[in-house]
Amino acid sequence: MDVRVFDDSASLGRFAAEHVLEAISARPDAVIGLATGSSPLSIYNAWAELARERELNLSGVRCFALDEYAGIDPEHQESYRTVITNTVVGPVGLTPELVHVPATVASAAAASAYEEAIAAAGGVDLQILGIGRNGHLGFNEPGSPFDSRTRRVSLTPETISDNARFFGAPENVPGEAITQGLGTIMDARKLIIVAIGEAKAKAVAAAIAGPVTEQVPASIVQRHPDVVYVLDRAAASLLP
Ligand code: GLP
Repeated sequence: MDVRVFDDSASLGRFAAEHVLEAISARPDAVIGLATGSSPLSIYNAWAELARERELNLSGVRCFALDEYAGIDPEHQESYRTVITNTVVGPVGLTPELVHVPATVASAAAASAYEEAIAAAGGVDLQILGIGRNGHLGFNEPGSPFDSRTRRVSLTPETISDNARFFGAPENVPGEAITQGLGTIMDARKLIIVAIGEAKAKAVAAAIAGPVTEQVPASIVQRHPDVVYVLDRAAASLLP
């Protein structure tokens, strides 16, 4: 596991974006896993900036989002489809048809179709991940099985309250989601996990240095062969 600590989110974003561009230069149709949330934005901004500076053609890149709210209108401004479109696909210049987001219907059939689509693409080359305050990855809340696959899940009150800022009030946050499972995430060939801010320090320390337990979903990545953590000083502050 490679743990990097940065003074500011711009240099963190550049470092992580170089990893993404490396995967794409190895294979122009690389499969990149996309996360939502505030933390990955510095990576997407740097990715877009470097692509512009270097005049890269990224039209062959394929992407799979980690998760989506269940039952939300896909056109809603806070659906992960909309967020991914606005923060990554547009700015970076990806081909919208090659960017997949789980279906908001979140049925068992939609979940297995998503797994099949990832497999048919040859698997994920590089997965970008944020981490929840409770150690979640995607919407795999504490207690999620390590071998879980894409499925419908319920959000914990903590996650609902964390995400209320996007919806105005907790009661507007969808209570369920469809998420890639921890087993799905572990199948990606490389993981980049980003955490910014003091609120993440406890989860980061538990995930990196604590026991591997389903109570801390991100702790499973201790068993992944190629993981890079990109942290700011605050998020790294409780690391031993
Ligand atoms: C949401 C997403 C997660 C993300 C988490 C943290 O719950 N489903 O994938 O890691 O938020 O988001 P933020 O980076 O905004 O703290």
